Amino acid sequence: MRSSTVLVLTCTYAAYAQTNLPPLANDTVFAVGTNITINAPIDTVWNVLLDWDNYAEWNPFVRQQTLADEFFMPVPAENRTLVALKAAGSSLENQRLILNVQIPPLPLPVNASTPSNILHSQSSFENITAMQPTQHRMAWKQVMFPDFILSAERWSALSSVGLFGLQTLYESREEYGGALAGTLQDLFGEGLQESFDAQGVALKARVEGS
Ligand SMILES: *[C@@H]1O[C@H](CO)[C@@H](O)[C@H](O)[C@H]1NC(C)=O
Ligand SMILES: *[C@@H]1O[C@H](CO)[C@@H](O)[C@H](O)[C@H]1NC(C)=O
Ligand SMILES: *[C@@H]1O[C@H](CO)[C@@H](O)[C@H](O)[C@H]1NC(C)=O
Ligand SMILES: *[C@@H]1O[C@H](CO)[C@@H](O)[C@H](O)[C@H]1NC(C)=O
Ligand SMILES: *[C@@H]1O[C@H](CO)[C@@H](O)[C@H](O)[C@H]1NC(C)=O
Repeated sequence: MRSSTVLVLTCTYAAYAQTNLPPLANDTVFAVGTNITINAPIDTVWNVLLDWDNYAEWNPFVRQQTLADEFFMPVPAENRTLVALKAAGSSLENQRLILNVQIPPLPLPVNASTPSNILHSQSSFENITAMQPTQHRMAWKQVMFPDFILSAERWSALSSVGLFGLQTLYESREEYGGALAGTLQDLFGEGLQESFDAQGVALKARVEGS
C-alpha cells in the first residue's frame, strides 16, 4: 500500500519536472512556448503532430505546413502522407517546409475549411533541423534571414508521463535571436504566445476526440 502511494507521488512529480526539449541556446533574446498533458499514448500524439498535411483540420496557428525540396518546391503529395513521413524518418532533416501561420491564432475550434484571417497571415520558409522519431522530437528553423539579423528555431517534443505512460506531455518552444528579435517580440510576442498555447489546446482536443 505504502509503496504504491510513493509510486503515484513520484509519477506526478515527474510529470511536472521533466522536459524533452533541448536547453535554450545562449544567444536567445526571447522565447515563446507551451506545454500540455494529453490523455493518450505518445505514438498517438506523435502521429497527429507529424501529419503536417492535415494540420488545417485542427491547428489554429499553423494552417499549412508543406514539405518541400531545397528550392521550396512542395514534394509530391504521396511523399507527404503520414506513412511517407514516418518512413523518411531522420532523412527529413535538411529538407524544407513552407508554413502558413496565424498570429494571433484563429478562434477554436477550426477545421479544414475555416478561412484564414488575412490580416493575421504570415508565410515562413524553414529548414528541418531535427527529426528524431525515437526521442519524439522535431525542430525547424527559418531560413529567410541570416542568424545575425533573425534566428528563429521551433522545437516540438513529446514524453510519456503518468502511470504506465498512458499520458503524453506535449511541449513546444520557439527561440528567437539576432538584431531584429527585440522588434519581433514587441510586434508579435504576445500573439505568438497565444498561438503556441492555442496549438497545444487544439492538439489535445484533436487527439482526445473532444
Ligand atoms: C552556454 O554557455 C555556457 C557557459 O559559457 C556553456 O557552458 C554552454 O555550453 C553554452 N550552451 C550552449 C547551448 O551553447
Ligand atoms: C509548462 O507551462 C507552464 C505554464 O503554462 C509553466 O509554468 C511550466 O514551467 C511549464 N513546464 C515545463 C516543463 O516547461
Ligand atoms: C517520393 O517517394 C518515392 C518513394 O518513396 C521516392 O522514390 C521519391 O524519390 C520521392 N520523391 C521526392 C521528390 O521526394
Ligand atoms: C468549420 O468551421 C467553421 C468555422 O470556422 C464552421 O462555420 C463550420 O461549420 C465548420 N464545419 C464543420 C464541418 O464542422
Ligand atoms: C538544415 O538543417 C540541417 C540539420 O541541422 C543542417 O545540416 C543544414 O545545414 C541546414 N540547411 C540550411 C540550408 O540551413
